Amino acid sequence: MTRVTVPDILELKRSKQKIVCLTAYDDFGARMVDQSGAEILLVGDSLGSVIQGSANTTGVSLADVAYHVRCVRTGVRRALIVADLPMGSYGSSVAQAVDSSVQLVRAGACAVKIEGTYCDEIRAIIKAGIPVMGHLGLTPQSVHVFGGHKVQGRSGPDKLIEQALQIQEAGVFGIVLELVTSSSAKSVSEELKVPTIGIGSGPHCDGQVQVLHDVLGMGVRQFKHAKVYVDCKSLVSQALQSYVSEVKSGEFPGEDNSF
Ligand code: KIV
Repeated sequence: MTRVTVPDILELKRSKQKIVCLTAYDDFGARMVDQSGAEILLVGDSLGSVIQGSANTTGVSLADVAYHVRCVRTGVRRALIVADLPMGSYGSSVAQAVDSSVQLVRAGACAVKIEGTYCDEIRAIIKAGIPVMGHLGLTPQSVHVFGGHKVQGRSGPDKLIEQALQIQEAGVFGIVLELVTSSSAKSVSEELKVPTIGIGSGPHCDGQVQVLHDVLGMGVRQFKHAKVYVDCKSLVSQALQSYVSEVKSGEFPGEDNSF
């Protein structure tokens, strides 16, 4: 099985094929995502919500992301592993951004993702040999600046196009567009040579990214931007209730489970 590379991702845009990205944070999730056919596995700082139970991503540390990259790396044989640079790991200086990225690559990532228009940081990380993915629109680490998880691009695509061209010029190989109106996301996607990967940004992006727990029905809430493909919460709940009731009744363990 050949590994998906950054040039493969760029080629998918050139040949007008959709790109699929899913998050994962542990070995089981990584194996499932890797076998699904998704090209990119993102160790996102969404782990703050889905793993740590926080309301947002601002409490996630570089050590947290590095730990989860180490958890996924042995389960992945094909997908490109991208790791999020969390809040506080790149905003102080270009050197901090490079050092943080190196830590994530040493943990097992192939590329990093950075929120916003940190062009000097993007250039320096790439110069250090690490591919960078951008992230525009609603950038969750700045949730308090935005005043909530609000849809972006409602007043037109111009600002987003300007930001996207800046980070494309700095060298990103793709850009996550989060919670951007469909029409603005379409305009941005048409302007760029690199692919846009949308979440809550409509069907015109070059690819889509979803949080694993959201598509498996394991999220804390159901979001408009996500589709639940299997209701794992109900299935797991039923399974665990069966286990408890079989232990209570003496049905488990039976002959098959005994030595
Ligand atoms: O942290 C994350 O999982 C992300 C995706 C939602 C794009 O950044």
